[in-house]
Amino acid sequence: MHIDRRAFLASMGGAVALETMSSEARADALEHYLIDQLDQTAVASPEQANATPQRPYRRGVGTLFVLHGSVDAPSPVKKLEPMPPRPTLLDFFKLRFAPANHVLQSAGRAMKTGMSEETILACLLHDLVLSLIKPDHGWWGAQLIEPYVSERVSWAIRYHQALRFYPDTAVGYEYPEMYYRIFGKDYEPPPYVEAAYKFARNHKWYMNARLITVNDLYSFDPNARVSIEPFVDIIGRHFKQPKEGLGYDNSPVAHMWRTIEYPDQPL
Ligand SMILES: [Fe+2]
Ligand SMILES: [Fe+2]
Repeated sequence: MHIDRRAFLASMGGAVALETMSSEARADALEHYLIDQLDQTAVASPEQANATPQRPYRRGVGTLFVLHGSVDAPSPVKKLEPMPPRPTLLDFFKLRFAPANHVLQSAGRAMKTGMSEETILACLLHDLVLSLIKPDHGWWGAQLIEPYVSERVSWAIRYHQALRFYPDTAVGYEYPEMYYRIFGKDYEPPPYVEAAYKFARNHKWYMNARLITVNDLYSFDPNARVSIEPFVDIIGRHFKQPKEGLGYDNSPVAHMWRTIEYPDQPL
């Protein structure tokens, strides 16, 4: 995917604002910018964004709540369709996460290259939580799905965030070229990210998290046609859909699903 460096900087509030962010936050911002570019058509021009470099909310707010692509001349958020009773993961894909281009492309790449069903599922779920919140999305994202998937899948999602910054040429994962261009050559992950990487690198499930990053980087194709349909069977086999519906099973994460279902609740 072509990255318009000026548009990206403008969406961050300009180069000066970008410099005040930590490298980790900047890398996250880039990933989220790319996802937004894929998922939204209403994007402010660089001129619009430059005109008002301040924004009325924090950058980490989820995409359900704010259209990040048009931050400085905000478009109205979409009117949301009500969800059916006892909503399933598929209902959330269709009614809250759509178009979900980024995760569908990631999972599609994993499927095309013959990866395991657990890896395909991990790719499908790895960035869903960006609808809710963006900082530390690996940790939040793992928590969101933890009760419903194998421990290995949620573990992989937790650590993909840190692994993005560390190459593993044995599986063809190189440090992203675009990170050099956007952030310069001097990037050093903060200690907590480095510690998470070191822990994950020596873990028996390392490759599960690594494969998310392998599929992640090549999955920004704005022309790809995506659909949840190829993944329905895998979800059926590996995602333990609660019979009460996501949000209503009294699990420790039910409130997170309810917030995604009802992002317009005032309290
Ligand atoms: Fe991610
Ligand atoms: Fe991603």
